[in-house]
Amino acid sequence: MGNLPPKEFMPKHIGIIMDGNGRWAKERGLERTKGHIEGAKVFRTISDYCHEIGIEVVTFYAFSTENWKRPASEITALMKLFKEYLLEADEIKFDRQNRGYVLRFLGDTKAIPKELSKLCDSTQLDIKDPDTTIVNIALNYGGRQEIVHSVKEIAEKVKNGELKPSDITEDTISNGLYTAGMPDPDLIIRPSGELRLSNFLTWQSAYSELWFSDVLWPDFTTEDLDKAIMDYAKRNRRFGAV
Ligand code: FPP
Repeated sequence: MGNLPPKEFMPKHIGIIMDGNGRWAKERGLERTKGHIEGAKVFRTISDYCHEIGIEVVTFYAFSTENWKRPASEITALMKLFKEYLLEADEIKFDRQNRGYVLRFLGDTKAIPKELSKLCDSTQLDIKDPDTTIVNIALNYGGRQEIVHSVKEIAEKVKNGELKPSDITEDTISNGLYTAGMPDPDLIIRPSGELRLSNFLTWQSAYSELWFSDVLWPDFTTEDLDKAIMDYAKRNRRFGAV
């Protein structure tokens, strides 16, 4: 374990945009998919490390609602990687559960290949242990789409007379998001030099600290994560107060 702040200064929820796989591969004269394969290895290392250092929730942006615009061969390669990981996770889920580590999926996982969608359902576990690390995988996820999903649920409730418009609060919307019941991300990390959130945790990131780095995701290490957490711990979060 590296150089980390005391527990009270640790982020509870970290969001990570796994960016730069394509550029990493291009720099080496490799196919883009090779970058995703390396990126998936780093995903495993970082998710395990988050558990080791006691992070409550870590959310990885794996596939956005916009990523369907990529070439079919790249989409197929990514789906294959997700499937391999989910099969592995399914086999070792009890082991992982013992280690207090559960998988959750954020996004419209009904609209992905059926076999993968079923695997998402079977690997998603109930959270029983308060020391559990929740590893969220945002798959076919879009922040705006998530808000629309929540608003539609609310509209149904209003239509059925279960809810009055005047009773709608921020919590009503939060409770309809895929992250319902989880803390908002304290820290969002984006490697690869891009300085935007790209429809990631749009509602939940209202007060998140943002941390950017030029490192490409396949080169991202646990030391980079330590550095992001140390920088976060030094920042003074005021939530609009003085
Ligand atoms: C963005 O980099 C990355 C993605 C769209 C895919 C991220 C997915 C993984 C790293 C695999 C994760 C695996 C599991 C099992 C969850 P990019 O390809 O857009 O990079 P570029 O901007 O350099 O082209």
